[in-house]
Amino acid sequence: MSPSMSNTLSIQQVNQASLKDSCKTLVGRAISIASPSRTRELFAFPVSHPEGFRDKAIMAFLKRRAIHLHQDSFFERLHQEFWSGQGGAVFADNCDHRFNDLFLTKQAEDFQRLQEVWLQQSHPNIVEFGCNSGLLLNHLTKNLADVKAATGIELNADQVRRNQQSDDFDSRINFLQADAGQWLLKYGQKNTLFVTNGGVLEYFPREKLDAMLAHVAANIKPATFFCVEPVAEDHDWQVSNESIPFGNELSFSHNYTDLFQSNGFQIVHQRAVPFEDWKMVATIAMVR
Ligand SMILES: C[S@@+](CC[C@H](N)C(=O)[O-])C[C@H]1O[C@@H](n2cnc3c(N)ncnc32)[C@H](O)[C@@H]1O
Repeated sequence: MSPSMSNTLSIQQVNQASLKDSCKTLVGRAISIASPSRTRELFAFPVSHPEGFRDKAIMAFLKRRAIHLHQDSFFERLHQEFWSGQGGAVFADNCDHRFNDLFLTKQAEDFQRLQEVWLQQSHPNIVEFGCNSGLLLNHLTKNLADVKAATGIELNADQVRRNQQSDDFDSRINFLQADAGQWLLKYGQKNTLFVTNGGVLEYFPREKLDAMLAHVAANIKPATFFCVEPVAEDHDWQVSNESIPFGNELSFSHNYTDLFQSNGFQIVHQRAVPFEDWKMVATIAMVR
């Protein structure tokens, strides 16, 4: 299917602004010139659900400008604002079905490979970044052999509180509210399986992911990453290592092969599966 006929999220979608989008950007640009201090404020502290005509117009302009000027840290701030607020708090209600419909149903082959790698590595610890309601972390803790400790790192404080108060989890699991990048640089330990699932690294700029992986490779190896992340269907990894905003959320489509290999990891498994509007790529990468 050609990209234009498919619903799978793409870069092309972002670049093909409709007439309505172009008008919004033009109006936003004019309003931002008239309101420079509000524009500076929204650039520094972007909001995912702006209220009122002025803020909506300025945010539309700032997003479009950030795409053109590659202002990746603006998108990082925008994603963090979304996930630490209502976006993260209601995610489980809307999307927990994906654990069954995607992970258990369509990714059995990836999990099987992870089990084999886990047995070879004998890491005692699991850390999942962006674990949200913890369904996958619970599954991994119960189904990988001899897990000593499992930690779920999640940005959304409400969700972390609900997890901490729940009796549904394996007793080896601990949930913490933190930014995954900051936590890894400060508390990451060797012999760990690091996990992201359902799209978490897509909210991090490439620069930050490079810093995280370089830290793991230099200071806390051996380690393994198991990542299941969406990518733009028209992101050709043979051609581009760039991390490019895609889809409605303007999250980053990363080249996960280059991301891991350029930071000293060996990729032992990589497989794409289509799911709803996404092309999801599972990667298992190790550094010894
Ligand atoms: C698309 S959801 C995926 C949730 C879960 N892994 C799943 O598959 O159901 C992304 C999750 O990553 C979390 N997140 C986003 N940025 C984060 C960050 N910088 N540090 C920790 N968690 C983050 C969000 O709060 C959200 O729970």
